[in-house]
Amino acid sequence: MRNRALTIAPLLFAGCEGVQSALAPAGRDAERIANLFWAMVVGGGVVWLIVMAVAVYGARAKHEHSEKLAGRFILWGGVVFPTVTITALLIGGLALLPPTLDLGPDEPRLAVVGEQFWWRARYRQGDQWVEVANELHLPTGRRTAMTLESPDVIHAFWVPSLGGKVDTIPGRTNHIAYEPTRAGTYRGACTEYCGQAHALMAFHVVAEEPAAFETWLAHQAEPATEPTDAEATRGAALFLEHGCGACHAVRGTEAAGVIGPDLTHVGSRAHLGGVLPNDTASLVRFIREPEAIKPDVRMPAFTTLSDAETAAIAHYLEGLR
Ligand code: CUA
Repeated sequence: MRNRALTIAPLLFAGCEGVQSALAPAGRDAERIANLFWAMVVGGGVVWLIVMAVAVYGARAKHEHSEKLAGRFILWGGVVFPTVTITALLIGGLALLPPTLDLGPDEPRLAVVGEQFWWRARYRQGDQWVEVANELHLPTGRRTAMTLESPDVIHAFWVPSLGGKVDTIPGRTNHIAYEPTRAGTYRGACTEYCGQAHALMAFHVVAEEPAAFETWLAHQAEPATEPTDAEATRGAALFLEHGCGACHAVRGTEAAGVIGPDLTHVGSRAHLGGVLPNDTASLVRFIREPEAIKPDVRMPAFTTLSDAETAAIAHYLEGLR
């Protein structure tokens, strides 16, 4: 039995490591939240041990106690002790709110929108807004304030390794700020049930040095690169012919749709739709059967395209780095 407990314990805690864990903080706010969690675990553990010890003593004690002693025990153990510990916990928890709600000195530079079922993100770069999807970048050591909105249903934005979570609510603008302390790629998730593909509404945040972040953003602000080979040129033409540009934007081309993710630099992202590795096979699959990847997604399946046509479009998109 003990052996089994020892084998199960690592499995229980395996989920606490890695790219999506509030217990492996890589951001200022996530550190505060993790500290509160551990204080509660230790405090709760101590209280539990005391209660268990008293219960065992009570069950085994043979002699009777006086009414007076019992009254005192109830007063101190049942009233004073819980009042003091719960008040301390409340004060500790409330003290955490102002720093985690601090949006920093700058105007929000990042506007996040929860869509069906993906994340739209717009960065302010000078006087223009640069749109990306499902892969956000944030500078380390700086507080980045964001606004959060939704056009239709409620989603919740959360990157457990970096900070707290906040809902995106139609008709309302919410705010949060993240301040990564460690460079790396962290996974985020939608944590409010929003439809069939809710659990697949994942995204990634790349935390990097401020200089690398600015370079990335400047690159994202540029228009798409021209196709460099014959197949990509054919793919670009097919992309427009089949109406992909009605929903997707590829800046620098005629494609200027605003319904779906901006694809100007789609090839530069590590993941596709937040859930697939970004490669030719995933792109082909997404064009062919988006419903199989994200049920109830708004994108229609392009089953009328031949294999060669689908491959050409995928090749073109892959080259948009
Ligand atoms: Cu979006 Cu759940």
